[in-house]
Amino acid sequence: MLNTTWSVIAIVLIVASILGCWWLLHWTKGISDRDDEDDIHDSGHVWDHDIRELNNPLPRWWLNLFNITIIFAIVYLALYPGLGNLPGVLGWTQENRYEEELAAAEAATAGVYARYADMELEQLIRDPDAMATGRRLFGQNCAMCHGSDARGGTGFPNLVDEHWQWGEGYDAVLTAITGGRQAAMPPWAQALGEEGVPQVVEYVRSLSGLEHDAALAADGQGKYAMFCVACHGPEGKGNPLLGAPNLADNDWLYGSDREVIVQGLQEGRYGQMPAFEDQLSEERRKLLAAYVLGMGEAAAILEGRQ
Ligand code: HEC
Ligand code: HEC
Repeated sequence: MLNTTWSVIAIVLIVASILGCWWLLHWTKGISDRDDEDDIHDSGHVWDHDIRELNNPLPRWWLNLFNITIIFAIVYLALYPGLGNLPGVLGWTQENRYEEELAAAEAATAGVYARYADMELEQLIRDPDAMATGRRLFGQNCAMCHGSDARGGTGFPNLVDEHWQWGEGYDAVLTAITGGRQAAMPPWAQALGEEGVPQVVEYVRSLSGLEHDAALAADGQGKYAMFCVACHGPEGKGNPLLGAPNLADNDWLYGSDREVIVQGLQEGRYGQMPAFEDQLSEERRKLLAAYVLGMGEAAAILEGRQ
C-alpha cells in the first residue's frame, strides 16, 4: 500500500498520461481532418533535390487501436486496483484470490478426508487409498526428521519398532503429532561428580546387558537410585508420561556408547518434536497417526516372517 501522498501523485500521473495520450491522438486527428483531396502535407524539408519529408496523419485504423487501448485502460482501472490506492469496483485483491484458491482446494479434498473420518483404525490401515494418502502426508511433514521409512536416526525416534518413548497406541501418536513432544533431561554430571559419572554410565549399560565394568556399576547403582530413578524408574524401564526412555532395552535414541551417555549427562537431552496442530487439519493428523501405526504393523509382520 502506498501512503496517501504517493497514492495521489500516482493517480495524478496516471490520469495525466491517459489524458495526454488522448490529446495527442485528437491533435493528430485534427491534421487528418484537414485532409482534402490534392493536398499533400509537406514539412517543407527537401533532400537531394527531390526527396521531400511528408507530414501525413496516422492511418485511421492505427488511430483506433490507440483509442481502444485508452478505453481498455480506463475500464481496467475502474474494475481492478491500479489507480493509486483505489480498490477498483470488483474489489479484487491477491489475498482474496489466494483465499479462494485455498478454499477450493480444501473443498476438493474435504470429501476424501470425510470418508476416512468415519473409518475405524483397522479399516484405515487396510485401506490402500488411505495409506497412500498417509504416506504422502508423512513424506511432506515427517520424513525430514524420522526418515522416509520412519526408522528415525540419532535423536529422532524410530516409529516402526515396538519401543515407544511417550507411550504406545493411537492416542499417544495422535497426541505427539497434535501437540508435539518436548523431552527435557537436565545435565547430571555436576551432581554426580567426576567419580560418579563413569560409575552411573557402567550401571546404565548393565541395565540392558551391555558389556560393562561390574565393580563400577555396583557403585553406580546407588547414585542411579538417587538421581535417575524418579524419571527412568527403579529397573530403568522409563516413564512414558515424561518421555523418559527405557534404559533397559536395546533401543537407544542417542546411542549406548560410553562417550554418548557421558555427553547426555554433561549437556542434558532436550529432544523436540514440533506440534502440527496449526499446520495439519484434524482429519490429516488422524490419518497420519493411522499411517504410522499401519507402517509399524506392516514392519512387525515383515520382521515376523524373517
Ligand atoms: C523437526 C523434526 C521432527 C518432525 C518434522 C517430526 N518429528 Fe516426530 N519427533 C521428533 C523428535 C526429536 C522426537 C523425540 C522427542 C523426544 O526426544 O522425546 C519425535 C517424536 C515423535 C513421536 C513419539 C515417538 C515415541 O517413541 O513415543 C511420534 C509418534 C512422532 N514423533 C511422530 C511424528 C509424525 C507423525 C510427524 C509428521 C507429522 C513427525 N513426528 C514430525 C522430531 C520430529
Ligand atoms: C527429570 C527426569 C529425568 C531424570 C531425573 C533423568 N533423566 Fe535421563 N532422560 C530423561 C528424558 C526425558 C530423556 C529423553 C531425552 C530426549 O528424548 O531428548 C532421557 C534420556 C536419557 C538417556 C538417553 C537414552 C537413549 O535412548 O539414548 C540416558 C542414557 C539417560 N537419560 C540417563 C539418565 C541417567 C543416568 C540419569 C541419572 C543420573 C537420568 N537419566 C536422569 C529424563 C530424566
